[in-house]
Amino acid sequence: MIEESMIRKLISLADEARSRSYAPYSNYAVGAALLCEDGSIVTGCNMENAAFGPGICAERCAIYKAVSDGRRSFKSIAVAGSPVGEPLSQYASPCGVCRQVMREFADPASFDIIVAGPDGEYRINTLDELLPDSFGPDNLS
Ligand code: THU
Repeated sequence: MIEESMIRKLISLADEARSRSYAPYSNYAVGAALLCEDGSIVTGCNMENAAFGPGICAERCAIYKAVSDGRRSFKSIAVAGSPVGEPLSQYASPCGVCRQVMREFADPASFDIIVAGPDGEYRINTLDELLPDSFGPDNLS
């Protein structure tokens, strides 16, 4: 069970990462903070591109940063998203592609997805709840 103080820390780091978002096309800024099994926290932000296709979500940015640094086991992720330049005004739940990438490296039953909302509020769900009956690495072993 993730502690409230850790939830608050992850939300704060996700919101800080959000300020580094590069989103000139959608004007929608997202930040993420990924808690690794070893206790380290890796952040990410969405990065868009003039060719559109190469853009990446904040969640995958954080996961790919962590994996490329040698971490492959994750406990939780906080996500904070809203229009650029505005405080958090909505709950930005991870897109389907990001949920599937989380599935690759996390235990669906225990991985907590924290979605930050307005006024310091948040929603928390396991990956199993947001990606039920999923296909994963175990299908191919
Ligand atoms: N975005 C994320 O970073 N994470 C999500 O889970 C949903 C969408 C980004 C992608 C794009 O840069 C912008 O938000 C608008 O879709």
